[in-house]
Amino acid sequence: MATSTLLDELRRRFAAAVSQVAGREVSPGETLLRATSDPAHGDYQCNAAMPLGKPLKRKPREIAEAIVAAVRLDDLCGPLEIAGPGFINIRLRDEALAGRLGDIPGPRDGTPDRVGVPLLTATDHLITTHQGRPLPKVILDYSSPNIAKQMHVGHLRSTIIGDVFARVLSFLGYPVVRQNHVGDWGTAMGMAILGLWYLKTRRRRGEDAQAIRDRLAAVQDAKGKTVSVRQELLAPIAAEWSEDLANPIPPGLDIPVQDLELGYQFIQAVTAVSAGVDCPVRDPDGRSDQLSEIARIVTTHLQAGGEANAYERQEWREACEISLGYCQRIYERLGVLLNRDDVCGESFFDPRLAPVLAELREKLPAEPVAGRACTVLREDDGAQCLYFYQADGTPQFRNPDGDPLPMIVRKSDGAFLYATTDLAAIRYRIEDLGGRRLIYVTDARQKLHFEMFFQAARNIGWACDDVTLEHTTFGSVLGEDRKPLKTRSGDNVKLSELLDEAERRALEVVVQKQAERDRTLTAAQQQEIARRVGIAAVKYADLSRDRNGDYVFSWDQMLALQGNTAPYMLYGYARIRSIYRKAAEQFGAPDVYAGAVQLQLGTPEERALGLHLLRFPEAVTQLAGDLLPHTLCAYLYDLAAAFMRFYEACPVLKSETEPLRLSRMRLCDLTARTLKTGLGLLGIEVSEKM
Ligand code: ARG
Repeated sequence: MATSTLLDELRRRFAAAVSQVAGREVSPGETLLRATSDPAHGDYQCNAAMPLGKPLKRKPREIAEAIVAAVRLDDLCGPLEIAGPGFINIRLRDEALAGRLGDIPGPRDGTPDRVGVPLLTATDHLITTHQGRPLPKVILDYSSPNIAKQMHVGHLRSTIIGDVFARVLSFLGYPVVRQNHVGDWGTAMGMAILGLWYLKTRRRRGEDAQAIRDRLAAVQDAKGKTVSVRQELLAPIAAEWSEDLANPIPPGLDIPVQDLELGYQFIQAVTAVSAGVDCPVRDPDGRSDQLSEIARIVTTHLQAGGEANAYERQEWREACEISLGYCQRIYERLGVLLNRDDVCGESFFDPRLAPVLAELREKLPAEPVAGRACTVLREDDGAQCLYFYQADGTPQFRNPDGDPLPMIVRKSDGAFLYATTDLAAIRYRIEDLGGRRLIYVTDARQKLHFEMFFQAARNIGWACDDVTLEHTTFGSVLGEDRKPLKTRSGDNVKLSELLDEAERRALEVVVQKQAERDRTLTAAQQQEIARRVGIAAVKYADLSRDRNGDYVFSWDQMLALQGNTAPYMLYGYARIRSIYRKAAEQFGAPDVYAGAVQLQLGTPEERALGLHLLRFPEAVTQLAGDLLPHTLCAYLYDLAAAFMRFYEACPVLKSETEPLRLSRMRLCDLTARTLKTGLGLLGIEVSEKM
């Protein structure tokens, strides 16, 4: 992307010099130029000389000398220093730092605070173009929960992480299309529809949820028992279903999502336990079907559509409404961008599945093609399967026995699968939506599924070289016992309860902080702060760790006031604001961005803070590339730390001179705005006073 972060600028200039020395075109990335972690080695370091030694048959140190002689940097850097075998240490000149920092304009009223963007955009068109072309369109698939089941913590992670990508990529000017690929189709929907019906019949019979829960437990208990035991348990259920089917349910019952889920779980258990048991259910037309088959039959009715199946269609819609309404409430509480317009679930792709299969038939070979990697479509026991081969003819994926592992796209009974939908969706996203960078955020367990359908999309020719496909995975959420997070009773954690608890615990922290500092925020103000801190704590705990790892969910850790936590960052922000406010009150609210104010970076702490502020665009562009939110958290945490070191060493209120005070006040304000913008990109709301 055409940006001008300090890092990009240095890389470009070094690329020109290294190209001269190497006698060939060297790209900015090949300069191996990066920020240093130890200020003793300068601010940045260029390691281009080492790998050039062999091809140029020269000592790397000599090459480094040649690069130093060739590079044009006088306006930006002090004298370059060559260290060890040929590292080039780069130290920016203080005036250059102050000048660049001085270019960041003051906050503009009414526009969102886009601190640092001027650094990305010497002129505004830079962020909207990509080497002269429009920036590639990003399709972002995240959250994507399943209808009739409540979102679980895995969906929570996907939602929180995906939200950061949506914000960061839009911030940088990419067109972003959010896709909430909800599971609203397929065999589970028959169970959802039936579950909803079941729930309503029980209501009509005057039964409450607890009674259903008890019966569910009894059914689950019967798993693995003999046929006669299971029949004894299930026959009365089948008999009641026959009665209830004769008596249509009037519309207009208000079903909460947890009941919908309970109904679904009940049907799921009944379907599993009734397999192989003779339990006929009669419908009003006198037809009879086995209990174990009903959910499947309902699914076929739903998918067939038409007048005759209007009931299934309507109940399905109701189940979707209940679930999506619940999801939207969670999204709003979390403060993520997703809304109903972003929902483009599996059902949307249903009409596209048969044509996609036809296209697979037309475009894919039935046998591996010698000499090139390919995807093959073959029938296996009546099922349509994709097999993947490498150029040397060996299978690309194998099952644990070492046999080639297929991806089934149509079962022998004609049903399509999750994979078929993803094939239709990837085609739609590239060809209809015009996506050029497709990002999917799910847990790591789906890795193989994504590798397979990505490969298929490449081999069919939907995803050409100008399309990048990224499966952005994350680990599991573990409890403090290091097992997958569950409630004490062993149930899945309900997200709404989790957020309630976050806010309740955050309130304790806020109240305690208030008492310590003798503050007088009203109860309502404290509540609001606790809400922000609680939600921020849940999000930040997730985002601040490398998403690839599992993460241990710990209230104490995420609500700690010290360390890389949300409370630390939010209190840090509020503190900087209060320092600034005090100075502004005492000195008549000067305009610290006025042209006459010169930034002064005379102490090591001021300089370190200034340099770190200038690196904000680097942190953001890096995140846009590698999609690792914890790197932005680390940047912000370091920024807060650099500020604290500055504040300890450099008095603001008691600065020796007025120009110095104004410069320091401006550093305070730049730091606060950068923190606010950066936390905002993480989807975290700050408070001005805490
Ligand atoms: N609904 C799926 C699940 O809960 C996630 C869908 C992810 N997106 C996709 N295109 N497959 O596991």
